[in-house]
Amino acid sequence: MSENIVWHNTSVSHAERTQLNGHKPAILWYTGLSGSGKSTIANAVDRKLYERGCHTYLLDGDNVRHGLNKDLGFGDNDRVENIRRITEVANLFADAGLIVGTAFISPFKEDRAQARALAGERFIEVFVDTPIEICEQRDPKGLYKKARAGEIGNFTGISSPYEAPESAEVHLRTAEMSVEQAAQVVVDYLLS
Ligand SMILES: Nc1ncnc2c1ncn2[C@@H]1O[C@H](COP(=O)(O)OP(=O)(O)OP(=O)(O)O)[C@@H](O)[C@H]1O
Ligand SMILES: [Mg+2]
Repeated sequence: MSENIVWHNTSVSHAERTQLNGHKPAILWYTGLSGSGKSTIANAVDRKLYERGCHTYLLDGDNVRHGLNKDLGFGDNDRVENIRRITEVANLFADAGLIVGTAFISPFKEDRAQARALAGERFIEVFVDTPIEICEQRDPKGLYKKARAGEIGNFTGISSPYEAPESAEVHLRTAEMSVEQAAQVVVDYLLS
C-alpha cells in the first residue's frame, strides 16, 4: 500500500447515523450450501425488516458476481477474494448505518472468520443448515444436476468442501421449518 494514503475522518459520526436510523447496523452473514435457502430467507428477512422501518440492503451471490466480482471465478483463490470484497462492501454499508444481509455460500471457515474480524460485534452468522440431499432435491437453479454430470467444477458439497460453522449466532434447520418461520427467527434474534 502507498505511504501517501491517509485515512480521512468524516464529519457525520457513526453514532449520529445510528440515531437518525433508529436502529443499530448489523451484518447478517448467511452461509450454507447452494439451494439451502440463503437468498430465499434473506429476502424474507429483508422484507420483514423493511416493513418495520429498518434501513437494509442485501448483497446476493449471483448479483455481486454480475458486477463487482465479475472478474472472479470459483477456484479457491477467487472464492477468498470474492468474500474479502463482499466483506469490505458489507462493512461500508454497515458503516452507513444499514442492516446488511449477505447471501453467499462462503464455504470456508477461515474466510468467515476474516469477515467476522473485519466487521466486529455487528457480525451475525446465520447458518442455513440444509442437508445436501434436500438441497439437491430442491435444485432451484439446476446446478446439482449439472455438477453431478461433471459440467461444473469446484461445486460446493460435491467437488469442493463446505466447512459448516460450529458456533453461528443463528442456526436454521430449514428441513424442519418454513421460510416464514426461519425469517422470524432471524428478525427476533436481531431485534431482541
Ligand atoms: N424452509 C425453507 N427455507 C428456505 N428455502 C426453502 C425452504 N423450503 C423450501 N425452500 C426452497 O428452497 C430453495 C432455496 O433456494 P435459494 O436460491 O434460496 O438457495 P441459496 O442458498 O440462495 O442457493 P445459492 O447458493 O445457489 O444461491 C427455494 O426454491 C425455496 O423456495
Ligand atoms: Mg442464493
